[in-house]
Amino acid sequence: MAVEETLVLVKPDGVARNLTGEILRRIEAKGYSLVDIRLVQPDRSLLAKHYEEHEGKPFYEPLVEFMLSGSIVAIRVAGDRVIEGFRSLAGTTDPTTAAPGTIRGDFGRDWGLKVQQNLVHGSDSPESAARELSLWFK
Ligand code: PPS
Repeated sequence: MAVEETLVLVKPDGVARNLTGEILRRIEAKGYSLVDIRLVQPDRSLLAKHYEEHEGKPFYEPLVEFMLSGSIVAIRVAGDRVIEGFRSLAGTTDPTTAAPGTIRGDFGRDWGLKVQQNLVHGSDSPESAARELSLWFK
């Protein structure tokens, strides 16, 4: 079986707070491999494709605006069961209640901005990972 790959994004809040190194450290400490990495200033069309399954949800527009607000670090990460493994490292969506020990639980919280500033994104399935990696690493 081929080693699995996932897309990790360090979102604008993570980059602005200089947490990229800490997030990379946690990925490597877990034993996953960094295959490729890019600093990206995405445009709206890339984000529309990335978040197409969420179009129409109440958080969609604020989320896209937030993702346009600064640089993003896109990382191709490889390892056995890395998709679920990274989501476990990241913690649950809401950073206020994400478990301590996770990236969101240790470094995230609600900043009162009506948008989930939750530091990282990780693909949620092999299909999403393939689609998202092809968008961010052309
Ligand atoms: S859902 O509806 O169950 O699919 O939602 P979920 O999987 O938890 O989240 C999907 C992505 O939307 C982001 N999200 C939000 N962003 C801003 N504000 C709010 N309220 C919000 N709720 C969910 C969430 O972080 C997911 O984005 P990514 O980039 O995958 O982390």
